[in-house]
Amino acid sequence: MGIKKDLSIDYLGVKCENPFFLSSSPVGSNYEMVAKAFETGWGGVFYKTIGIFVADECSPRFDHVKKEGMPWLGFKNMEQISDKPTEVNFENMYKLKKAYPEKIMVASIMGSNEDEWRKLAKMCDEVGVDLIEGNFSCPQMTSHAMGSDVGSNPDLVRAYSKAVAETTKIPFIAKMTPNITDMTIPAIAAMEGGAKGISAINTIKSITNIDLDNMTGMPVVNGKSSISGYSGAAVKPVALRFIAQMLQHEKLKNVPMSGIGGIETWRDCLEFLLLGCRNLQVTTSVMQYGYRVVEDMSNGLMHWMDERGYDKLDDFIGMALGNVIPAEDLNRDFKILPDFNDKKCVGCGRCYISCYDAGHQAIDWNTEKRRPELNDKCVGCHLCLNVCPVANCITPGEVKWKDGRQEVEIAMKKDYE
Ligand SMILES: Cc1cc2nc3c(=O)[nH]c(=O)nc-3n(C[C@H](O)[C@H](O)[C@H](O)COP(=O)(O)O)c2cc1C
Ligand code: SF4
Ligand code: SF4
Repeated sequence: MGIKKDLSIDYLGVKCENPFFLSSSPVGSNYEMVAKAFETGWGGVFYKTIGIFVADECSPRFDHVKKEGMPWLGFKNMEQISDKPTEVNFENMYKLKKAYPEKIMVASIMGSNEDEWRKLAKMCDEVGVDLIEGNFSCPQMTSHAMGSDVGSNPDLVRAYSKAVAETTKIPFIAKMTPNITDMTIPAIAAMEGGAKGISAINTIKSITNIDLDNMTGMPVVNGKSSISGYSGAAVKPVALRFIAQMLQHEKLKNVPMSGIGGIETWRDCLEFLLLGCRNLQVTTSVMQYGYRVVEDMSNGLMHWMDERGYDKLDDFIGMALGNVIPAEDLNRDFKILPDFNDKKCVGCGRCYISCYDAGHQAIDWNTEKRRPELNDKCVGCHLCLNVCPVANCITPGEVKWKDGRQEVEIAMKKDYE
């Protein structure tokens, strides 16, 4: 029997059986798809963004970034909001809520003026969705009144959040664009307007690859391309950074946060939870592997909780947030020398090359033994540890204190999988 743990969570006053939700995109864009996702184990869906404007999509519309045989490090899409009629989408959401009352239905909406936002909010009210998300962040909407141009304009974010909050009592979540320096500004504006939660991030404006045949970006649409949204594993660090900055802000620290961006595995889920997210959203990994990724997410998380003795998500949500501190507050009094395990070493020489060409020439190469040997120039940067292809072959070793600095007990990572 597999390990069972309670993954349920209260998110904006709504009881969710687990924090795993599909993010607004094609992965949750009609009845059959969402029904299958619910049956596979997803706790809820942020249904594909609905507007009064119905998208007229281009073809092709996707591209991906790869490196050394690893495809889908990053994913680019040129999709806009839903290409289905507004009424059909609301009908789908209504039927899904009826058929799956325990699952959480979040309507993602986008208007192009206050009237449209009110109109869409009213339709959400009539259909009886659990939550509403405002898409202030799609980077490929052509009008300046919609998408990420709105998300980088705090006045519009405040006004549109207010329009929704005045129209319905359903809690409103503002979805942020990462195409901005400081996300706390529009996030605070959204809360001032009446939003109850924040979700982040939408996709990052990008040009992924240049096609040499057509001399344009990818994907090639009749010889042309556009700057458009980047998602998937590559954006996780950017998402985590924005989320931490928001949750550490005095005015946003208690905001129910929904984390999005590059979530593929249970470990990614855990990382967003540890920074303080109460809800998780996923698209790109579902586009690559299907709805079943949720099985790994819930099983992995339950196993980890079991190992650590946690019974519920609230036992550890936000635990890592306080340990993310300003760079000037880091303890700079010591260096940790790398420890080389000769038995695990396969003699590839990558640590030597990297340290010589890009580190501090602190490794001598023993040609006879084909093994690295540390000399006294080491600064403890751990580039060698990062390039070594063998897990736990180079590990943090002796701690050396800089002259005159006070020795204290230090915490360090010991196990590198
Ligand atoms: C093909 C595609 C279509 C998307 N459409 C929408 C959309 O209609 N509304 C929206 O808010 N976000 C949309 N997104 C953004 C995702 O919801 C999500 O914020 C982003 O992809 C980052 O998460 P991920 O790395 O798990 O994909 C779309 C993303 C992709 C890849
Ligand atoms: S820690 Fe940095 S300086 Fe020291 S051996 Fe490794 S790469 Fe070289
Ligand atoms: S990179 Fe790792 S495996 Fe390769 S020589 Fe250095 S220690 Fe050995």
